[in-house]
Amino acid sequence: MSAAPPMGLLLELTHRCPLQCPYCSNPLALERAGVELGTDAWLQVLDQAAALGVLQVHFSGGEPTARKDLAVLVRRAAELQLYGNLITSGVLLDATMLAGLAEAGLDHVQLSFQDVEPTNADRIGGLAGGHARKLVAARLIREARLPLTLNFVIHRQNIARVPQMIGLAEALGAQRVEIAHVQYYGWGLVNRAALLPSRGELDGATAVVEAARERLKGRMNIDYVTPDYHAARPKSCMGGWARRFMNITPSGTALPCHAAETLPGLQFPSVTAMSLAEIWESSPGFMRFRGTEWMAEPCRSCDRREIDWGGCRCQAFALTGDAARTDPACALAPDHAMMAEAVAARGEAPPDFVYRRIGAAIGNS
Ligand code: SF4
Ligand code: FES
Repeated sequence: MSAAPPMGLLLELTHRCPLQCPYCSNPLALERAGVELGTDAWLQVLDQAAALGVLQVHFSGGEPTARKDLAVLVRRAAELQLYGNLITSGVLLDATMLAGLAEAGLDHVQLSFQDVEPTNADRIGGLAGGHARKLVAARLIREARLPLTLNFVIHRQNIARVPQMIGLAEALGAQRVEIAHVQYYGWGLVNRAALLPSRGELDGATAVVEAARERLKGRMNIDYVTPDYHAARPKSCMGGWARRFMNITPSGTALPCHAAETLPGLQFPSVTAMSLAEIWESSPGFMRFRGTEWMAEPCRSCDRREIDWGGCRCQAFALTGDAARTDPACALAPDHAMMAEAVAARGEAPPDFVYRRIGAAIGNS
């Protein structure tokens, strides 16, 4: 099949980050600074993305502001008329850096928070004083007149404070707030019992979000991402495998999603060896789960197969050992009982977090 161009490109410029969130979407084996692509290679990626028809570029990490050439890359994206979004923890931002990014043509900043309660926020992120630095960053972003989205990743250890999270977004003048339940891949899966909310906690948060959406209509948008573990149907992960998004790792591997390297038997090319267009249109890793041809039952004959695209391949592999099975989040999947079993196994009190650290082995926190 011929593929429409990806809408968005996520550049994981670095895995370096001052925070160590226990649900980080980066892989368990983080890439060190020495293997990161240089400035020229990233500029070529941007040129090729624009030629391919990409519309949005997300500068991400790790912490993308750890890269000294960030403004150079933002400027090239703006020159190519790519919508540039910075996804940041904010803890390295200062007024000078923000002025430089705004002047280079950055379009939008997405700032993450771990909680609204400072002690708990700093404990979750593993950085003392991190929350206070984020509050300063939010004010600087608004002073630089950049549109701001606040991102809160929620879980059983902060879910009670969703009302205050929305209140903080209002107080800081955000245009949008994203309340996203943890997704359980990578570090999130390692820490699942420490993070997974109960059904009652989920329903309480959902009711708060729905009421706030009504109250804030026309003033602030609220995006809400629910957890698969209490769902009857899976989410359309990445909008379908290799249909809308491409990720590039710090060392230049092109992926259809951030966790694709966990899937055995798939090879993903480097942007230093192949053009983005070739990778997108014909590389076997991108073709493997694109569309519906690869599906077995129950997805193959399901009327939702072009809505959720069979759910998440990486979650299917992580939970069942087979990336081609129906995502266990689907109530029609033969493995669906695994979700309820994980909820039942979460325990009365959350266990300690295993933190994300470069060079850290699992269980070595
Ligand atoms: Fe989606 Fe497959 Fe479940 Fe149908 S059977 S809802 S296509 S995951
Ligand atoms: Fe890889 Fe969902 S994270 S397909």
